[in-house]
Amino acid sequence: MKITVIGAGRVGSSVALNCSLRELGDVMLLDIVEGLPQGEAMDINHQLAERGIDFTVSGSNNYEDMKGSEFVVVVAGVSRKPGMTRMDLLKTNADIVKGVCNKIKAFAHDSKIVVVTNPLDPLTYLVIKSLQGQRNKIMGMGGMLDLSRFKEHISTVTRISRESIQAMVISEHGENMLPLVRFSSMGGIPLSEFITPEQSEDLATKTKKIAAEVISLKGATVYAPGNAVSTMVESIVKNKRTILPVSALLEGEYGYSDVCIGVPCVLGNEGIEKIIELKLNENELEVFDLGIQSVKSAIRSFSL
Ligand code: 2OP
Repeated sequence: MKITVIGAGRVGSSVALNCSLRELGDVMLLDIVEGLPQGEAMDINHQLAERGIDFTVSGSNNYEDMKGSEFVVVVAGVSRKPGMTRMDLLKTNADIVKGVCNKIKAFAHDSKIVVVTNPLDPLTYLVIKSLQGQRNKIMGMGGMLDLSRFKEHISTVTRISRESIQAMVISEHGENMLPLVRFSSMGGIPLSEFITPEQSEDLATKTKKIAAEVISLKGATVYAPGNAVSTMVESIVKNKRTILPVSALLEGEYGYSDVCIGVPCVLGNEGIEKIIELKLNENELEVFDLGIQSVKSAIRSFSL
């Protein structure tokens, strides 16, 4: 298994580290900045050597080195700075991602692709359209990150082990994300048994805002995104068929088409093997629809 990560900044390197610690395959870190991917690769290999892990990470400035990849993770682009929303990055990152698509087309057109660059949902759509790719093979990582934060808040509020938590976050990876208390549980018991409606509201708000807080404190989110990508790649590589929130191209699911948004998916050898359609209530549908409209308006703004 060869996994190429395009973008060797802090998030890309965290993806490389997490994928290799989980022993998912060899990783090729690519970046246009000379020395950066090579240096990150060395540093990670030193950790892997001590751990006795024989998969290796390589660094390169040459896109041709992605040849033979089963997976390409697209992290390239500028990242959110304090005070910015993910949508503020649209124009700049759409141009960067279009360039990356040309390279994928040339050197790894058969690979499965996980998009990480923000704004996540519109750029996942851009990659699918630019590559005229199959929707099961190209997906975005956003919901997994929101889920990590939702789980952390649930554990803090309830003081129950993180291990007991099963949860779901769907919709836009952005202002209209939708943490689903109704579809979350702890030890098999509905989450609503443990929290008040006010706490539920508060959990959703905190989940939505916490990335901005991390960015204001340390400049970027790094570890949770790297882990989230590797969880998705692991489910596919090992054909685990785990249910995870993934930004997927809808073709009629939830009553929408021609838009990418976070929904629960079964991830196995074929990539997205199934999109699970939840029966959302009126309030949930309202937020989900706002998410769809936000992504659709972003999609309209770029030329394909
Ligand atoms: C995050 O949620 C910035 O989208 C990135 O961590």
